[in-house]
Amino acid sequence: MKVLLVCCAALALLLGTGPGAVGQGKAPPPEAKALWAHITQGSPYTSWGSWPDYQGAQRARSPHGPMNRVFVNQAGLDSAKPPVAHGTIEVKAVENAQGKLKGLVVMYKFKGYNPKAGDWFWVRYSPEGQVMAEGKPTGCIRCHSVLADNDYIMVHYFR
Ligand code: HEC
Repeated sequence: MKVLLVCCAALALLLGTGPGAVGQGKAPPPEAKALWAHITQGSPYTSWGSWPDYQGAQRARSPHGPMNRVFVNQAGLDSAKPPVAHGTIEVKAVENAQGKLKGLVVMYKFKGYNPKAGDWFWVRYSPEGQVMAEGKPTGCIRCHSVLADNDYIMVHYFR
């Protein structure tokens, strides 16, 4: 019984239900290293859900391909219409045709970070977490702007 209690307490800590929680785990600052720790350890993206209209491996239309999977945290999935809730994180795992991970591109909606462009913090990582681009890269923002009225989200259309 004692073991069970300790176990539950540890789990509750891990899930981080306190203020600033983003679904599971604490909200990281808009900074690539902290965000990497969050999406790989604090709240591993592989345990998140997906948009109902973009599940599993999909053929990419973007420069990041040829295949990709998009994982969305609970704050995003709970958002019924754009703009999505602050705290939303979307991780796109870019894969080759054999399903091998080629890198991650991430959008993290952080209150006050970049109000001119949806408050998104953008990062591109190597499969090992090396930071290739971070912040407000013009390239990411320009291309995603075609769907600014859909909160810059390309793979899920809010109705
Ligand atoms: C030339 C256009 C283009 C550029 C540049 C681009 N993207 Fe995308 N992005 C897309 C498209 C199209 C999708 C839809 C999925 C797909 O086909 O790959 C997408 C999907 C995504 C997603 C999944 C969430 C969603 O629905 O939007 C993330 C996260 C993302 N991109 C991040 C980035 C980041 C970070 C950068 C810059 C390093 C970037 N993108 C640059 C076109 C682009």
